[in-house]
Amino acid sequence: MVFTYVAFLLLLFGTYNVHGLIKPKHDKVVVCYVASWAAYRPGNGAFSLENLRPGHCTHLIYAFAGINASNWTIKSLDPWADMEKNGIGNYRKMTALRKQGLKVSLGIGGWNEGSINYSMMASSSDRRKTFIASTVEFLRTYEFDGLDLDWEFPGSRGGALYDKQNFVSLVKELRDTFRGHRFLLTAAISANKDTIDIGYDIPKISKYLDYIHVMAYDYHGAWNKQVLPNSPLRSKDRLSVEDTITYLLQQGAPAEKLVLGLAMYGRTFVLTTVPETPKINPIGLPSLDTGFKGPYTSEDGFMGFNEICEALVLYPQEWTTGWDNYSSTAYAIKKDHVVVYDDRKAIMIKVEYVRRQKLAGVMIWSIDTDDFRGKCSLLHGDMALLDGLDYPLMKSINTILANNTIPSEEKKEPNSSSVQLLSSIVFALSVTIIYFPLYANLS
Ligand SMILES: *[C@@H]1O[C@H](CO)[C@@H](O)[C@H](O)[C@H]1NC(C)=O
Ligand SMILES: *[C@@H]1O[C@H](CO)[C@@H](O)[C@H](O)[C@H]1NC(C)=O
Ligand SMILES: *[C@@H]1O[C@H](CO)[C@@H](O)[C@H](O)[C@H]1NC(C)=O
Ligand SMILES: *[C@@H]1O[C@H](CO)[C@@H](O)[C@H](O)[C@H]1NC(C)=O
Ligand SMILES: *[C@@H]1O[C@H](CO)[C@@H](O)[C@H](O)[C@H]1NC(C)=O
Ligand SMILES: *[C@@H]1O[C@H](CO)[C@@H](O)[C@H](O)[C@H]1NC(C)=O
Repeated sequence: MVFTYVAFLLLLFGTYNVHGLIKPKHDKVVVCYVASWAAYRPGNGAFSLENLRPGHCTHLIYAFAGINASNWTIKSLDPWADMEKNGIGNYRKMTALRKQGLKVSLGIGGWNEGSINYSMMASSSDRRKTFIASTVEFLRTYEFDGLDLDWEFPGSRGGALYDKQNFVSLVKELRDTFRGHRFLLTAAISANKDTIDIGYDIPKISKYLDYIHVMAYDYHGAWNKQVLPNSPLRSKDRLSVEDTITYLLQQGAPAEKLVLGLAMYGRTFVLTTVPETPKINPIGLPSLDTGFKGPYTSEDGFMGFNEICEALVLYPQEWTTGWDNYSSTAYAIKKDHVVVYDDRKAIMIKVEYVRRQKLAGVMIWSIDTDDFRGKCSLLHGDMALLDGLDYPLMKSINTILANNTIPSEEKKEPNSSSVQLLSSIVFALSVTIIYFPLYANLS
């Protein structure tokens, strides 16, 4: 009778996945930025939080909040979308996903925020204090897990000489204050060696940050007036993922805090002359200083992966695709138009690199330009078994990460399902010990 009772308890608690959490099948972080303005894109490009698949990410970052340079507080850049009292309430819609086991942080800054107001805020102890206090209040109000600093970049783009030291002070003081609130503190940093040298004291900020999100893209673009990869794994000019990660490790960034950024977009180029045949590798060809736009993101020189793959599916006779082996990136050519981008293969090779280097995981810029509607399934037919044809890039990332994450000889801790089983048994036994006398009396 005792055994049936214990078996019953095991049945009840043993198969119970604590609070219905979505557990990724690997031990790496997958940090997904959500560009809040993606909601305003036209047609199939419009991305709202309902399109998010929480199981693909371990961390979400809401991009972006801003700095109010009148009183040095954090501020919403789009109160109508962010806050429910004005409109949609996306902050709380996103932080509600914490119930599913995700960590949800608020990103502050980004390219459009620039560097000047960040620089002025960080330059004074009083302003930092005001900023940090307002941030704590803000994160608590909307129930975020933490803050992601997206200062692009300390010491550059109008920033000041002492930004590098002031950034350390900002990060240290945020850490000191956040400790009591158990908030996460992360930062997105440039992948460019010169920008790193100007802006970041790597050993010091590594100490205070939980994770460093390496923006390992935008190495090249139309501004180079030459077709070059947005995010090359290797490069002879030393502007590449491997060069950046090697440099950061040399500077003293711990591998277990480095998170490699993956670009779910490509950079576009217009060649100075139409090539005689589209069956050429365009890398290195001269181009104009502007590219072209995609139909949803409408930003010159930029195309989301969803826009690229839809173009390839809709107009296969117009586009010729190819692979640049040295940089491990894909390209597509249509007359004088070229887009260089990361396809599934390029992304998977980078994720394998992350595993080999034992980095903390990957960061996604940004989840709203994966093929989140599954419009390009013709290109990804081999994914038919993977629970629908949407999110080909996110699924590829998680597949590689879940592939036998830790070789068994290196494993030190028991895996989560055995921990869960063990704790269920302990729980069942203690319930039995407490209630068995009562149960025996009743029967
Ligand atoms: C910086 O702050 C000033 C003063 O509030 C504001 O006018 C300006 O737009 C801010 N800069 C950016 C890039 O938001
Ligand atoms: C910025 O701060 C000033 C001064 O307190 C305030 O008047 C203004 O409304 C704030 N702006 C935003 C967008 O919160
Ligand atoms: C800054 O301005 C905002 C918006 O008006 C206000 O809510 C906040 O109280 C002000 N903070 C400080 C420290 O003055
Ligand atoms: C592709 O690049 C790698 C790394 O540089 C090299 O080892 C390999 O031989 C190349 N393969 C081809 C087919 O060129
Ligand atoms: C899993 O990893 C092994 C060894 O690295 C590799 O041989 C295999 O192809 C991988 N499987 C998948 C599905 O990627
Ligand atoms: C985890 O442990 C369970 C029970 O010991 C075992 O069945 C399962 O294969 C393990 N999973 C991994 C990924 O090692």
